[in-house]
Amino acid sequence: MAGINWYQSNDKCSNGTCITEEMQIPFYSLSNVQLRFLCPSDLDEVRALCQDWFPIEYPFYWYEEITSSNSRFYSLAAVYNQTIIGLIVAEIKSHADLNEEDSGILAKSISDSDIAYILSLGVLKQYRRNGIASLLLDSLLRHLTTPERKKVKAVFLHVLTTNSAAIMFYEHRKFRLHNFLPYYYSIKGKCKDGFMYVLYINGGHPPWTIYDYIKFICGRVIKGAGLFPWVLVNVNKAIQWVWRNKTSQQHDNL
Ligand SMILES: CC(C)(COP(=O)(O)OP(=O)(O)OC[C@H]1O[C@@H](n2cnc3c(N)ncnc32)[C@H](O)[C@@H]1OP(=O)(O)O)[C@@H](O)C(=O)NCCC(=O)NCCS
Repeated sequence: MAGINWYQSNDKCSNGTCITEEMQIPFYSLSNVQLRFLCPSDLDEVRALCQDWFPIEYPFYWYEEITSSNSRFYSLAAVYNQTIIGLIVAEIKSHADLNEEDSGILAKSISDSDIAYILSLGVLKQYRRNGIASLLLDSLLRHLTTPERKKVKAVFLHVLTTNSAAIMFYEHRKFRLHNFLPYYYSIKGKCKDGFMYVLYINGGHPPWTIYDYIKFICGRVIKGAGLFPWVLVNVNKAIQWVWRNKTSQQHDNL
């Protein structure tokens, strides 16, 4: 994962070509961008992109896995002019198999569900702010919200606390901060803090807090307010009935 602070200057070299902020390429239509799954022949291109975007060194086998044709990963590329300009890599895991720092995403009542984890999302610098990452994320979310994947109740990711572009992107896409992870990353021998962001899907929700319980009880009380007029009318009727009975008894006694 990369952060804007990793680029010390506005100049940056990508695939051998030096690019400046001014060279951002505006799209007038995303219709020329194709989405396709990664394949083994993409390995070198994907590796070069990830090395450029992320400060973390992924092992070679990771690239083999994400580009393999029968990969367990959802590895999707955005391609423009036969060049990969963006990619997203995600996997589905059981909530029970999450690491300790990631557990607690889901409420206990749905903790036997699955969860999707975004391992990587990146866009070639000169194509950023054109909706490419949104296109890739939308495609992943469509995949995860099909009826066969309704067991997947949340999508989550880790991001460096200093990666403001990615944080703004995910917040714009309604991901919510779930956890602060001190010293989560080890980058070039230095420990860096991370955030965990979560988006709930398919009816998923986090564990209830005291605030949720209060909201629930208040909601029930407000909904129950329709009962009060009924109770008042019937109490009134009962009083009238008792009063009528009492006065008729007094008449009988006279
Ligand atoms: C984060 C990243 C993937 C966003 O890709 P992108 O294609 O530029 O994102 P989009 O164009 O779809 O952005 C959608 C919205 O997100 C927000 N956003 C994205 N980048 C932003 C930035 N640098 N600053 C502020 N808001 C930003 C904006 O609201 C944007 O909408 P707008 O352009 O209409 O204002 C890209 O900056 C990137 O590749 N960063 C390096 C790799 C990385 O850090 N990946 C994340 C790892 S967790």
